[in-house]
Amino acid sequence: MPGPVASHFERQASACEDLGSPFTAALCRLLAERLDDGTAFGRRILDWPGDPAADALALRACGALHALARSGREPALARVYPPAPFARDAVWAAIAGARVRHDAFLAGWLDSPPQTNEVARSSFVLGAALTVAQRTGLPLTVFEIGASAGLNLAFEQYRYELGDGRAWGDAAAPLTIQSDWRGARPALDTPLRIVGRVGCDRNPLDPSSEADAARLLSYVWPDQSSRMQRLEAALRLAAASGRRVEQADAAEWVERQLASPATPGVCRFFFHTIVWQYLPDAVKLRIEAALAVAGAAATPTTPLAQFGFEIDGGAPGGGMTLTLWPGGEAMPLGRADFHGRWVEWGRA
Ligand SMILES: C[S@@+](CC[C@H](N)C(=O)[O-])C[C@H]1O[C@@H](n2cnc3c(N)ncnc32)[C@H](O)[C@@H]1O
Repeated sequence: MPGPVASHFERQASACEDLGSPFTAALCRLLAERLDDGTAFGRRILDWPGDPAADALALRACGALHALARSGREPALARVYPPAPFARDAVWAAIAGARVRHDAFLAGWLDSPPQTNEVARSSFVLGAALTVAQRTGLPLTVFEIGASAGLNLAFEQYRYELGDGRAWGDAAAPLTIQSDWRGARPALDTPLRIVGRVGCDRNPLDPSSEADAARLLSYVWPDQSSRMQRLEAALRLAAASGRRVEQADAAEWVERQLASPATPGVCRFFFHTIVWQYLPDAVKLRIEAALAVAGAAATPTTPLAQFGFEIDGGAPGGGMTLTLWPGGEAMPLGRADFHGRWVEWGRA
């Protein structure tokens, strides 16, 4: 494997280890060591024309193999996937057979960037929404930028177990998210009422489509069964709700949403989780400008909020920031794990 591609696979392996997927880490290393140019799948990876890291090439490759393992079309591959323990030679033998029998399928999967919808990030959205509800005393209309399948738009319909015996939400909810909240936690007894919810994505996935659901599930790391179960439960709920994410570019959509007059007595709550890094600078500037203009016109009865959980160069995890108008001061809310396992709240 050429140096830049190999080092990208190694960096992805380390990231998978940090995020609790030893299987995907070992798979990245195995592919880096043994993949050759005997199939279109191998050739495309070895001769990748772009920046392998920017294109998330290793996750495209792992997603392709997981999709095939899940599809039922290659039982020999499925047999070496979790819950089976990772056995290097057996996994390679299964991949070697699969890549010959299903080369077009595997090579085709490399065309698209990975797409995920990480349901446990709903925990951060809940905390930010409680903070906004406490400060404004108003119900919220929720607007999600880069919503994928829209699973986090229903954040207040899930149950949360937040560590130290604390919980939020209906004990009978069909989906429970475990997320350890530490630090200056938002007040759990703040009344929270969501009166509307909409989202956009440039490539929205339909939770009721088998193909879209299979695509999302294939990018979940195979040894992370609780992520998989959360995603399956959230997909079922979203499919039953009939809610769909609108296909739109983020800037045009935010400008359009903010062009509608604000409803007195309701706070407009815009949020985005792990989206900012994908937006071109011009799109980010247009979103910030639209929010600033709407924010300048916001009043205590028509407030506006923006919450982001994004990669910010800090560690561990990503940074959470809340901006609330009138005022418009950006408040750091703390840091959180990319898969929602923990949240370290700061003082808002
Ligand atoms: C890493 S995913 C995060 C999805 C979701 N926010 C979550 O946390 O699970 C990033 C999402 O941003 C969307 N996206 C990227 N650029 C976009 C744009 N210009 N306009 C709208 N959505 C965009 C992608 O299609 C993808 O669904």
